[in-house]
Amino acid sequence: MNSKKIIIVGSTNMDMVVKTSHIPAHGETVLGGSFFMNPGGKGANQAVAVARLGGEAIFIAKIGNDVFGKQSFQLFEEEGIDTRFILSDDELPSGVALITVDEAGENSIVVAPGANAALMPLDLHDALAEIAEASVVLIQLEIPLTTVQFLVQQASAKGVAVILNPAPAAVLSEELLSHVDIITPNKTEASMLSGIEVTDMESAKVAATAIRKMGAKNVVITMGPLGALVLSNGEFTEVPSQKVETVDSTAAGDTFNGALAVYLSEGKGLVEAVRFSCEAAAVSVTRLGAQSSIPYRNELIASKLA
Ligand code: RIB
Repeated sequence: MNSKKIIIVGSTNMDMVVKTSHIPAHGETVLGGSFFMNPGGKGANQAVAVARLGGEAIFIAKIGNDVFGKQSFQLFEEEGIDTRFILSDDELPSGVALITVDEAGENSIVVAPGANAALMPLDLHDALAEIAEASVVLIQLEIPLTTVQFLVQQASAKGVAVILNPAPAAVLSEELLSHVDIITPNKTEASMLSGIEVTDMESAKVAATAIRKMGAKNVVITMGPLGALVLSNGEFTEVPSQKVETVDSTAAGDTFNGALAVYLSEGKGLVEAVRFSCEAAAVSVTRLGAQSSIPYRNELIASKLA
């Protein structure tokens, strides 16, 4: 693999974050703490993670022709992300996410997709030559499933490694999964995909086996503070995570996936890449917000992993 290019296709949101003592129950109003706004969206977070961790990021997305879209676009340029394939929709607003973060750093998120929901297969046509030349394609599920399906088919037909981060959780066809080289669900997403409730490493192994049988070639289940479980070539590897004080887990998964794509584009093995990804994600949970929490590669140098 000569190319180091990483194509990230996915959503861009503006995150509206409120700190709260607890996540409200149905019908409950909670008097929360401080409010802050920072750029997010699973696709955008992963593109930023790729760029900050040293990868060559090309981001394909659709933003609104509004202030949030313009701010996000400018930030992508400042991060050194290739923005040639970012489209702007004149009708729909940019995506917005409403996020509450509790005292344990756990979040709950509602997304208004806006222009993200209008990123169609046709919008990828100008980028097909770049996709065919990439080392890795990284995708999530905050854009239409038809676009995800089209992208994975195109990439796998050209022998490009496909990482699918199946977030938010969804039921996926075996046809789609058969084009995926590495799938990276968290516990909730792995439970939904496999039908097996994932609570610990043992149940994760059962779920990973089921997901492998559905067609994805390698399975990496992210387990929060427990680290990650890798199923590759019929072998399980448990990768521990550093113990850290969690401030906000938002975008930890995105940081993980961005890091994974970077290490794989550098020709590193899957387990080594997952170790690096756990390290990067651990740093991100110690900080508030999505893109505001994603580390730069030189911040990980101290760990001797980067
Ligand atoms: O993964 C975290 C992201 O999910 C947030 O930035 C929010 O925008 C939602 O897309």
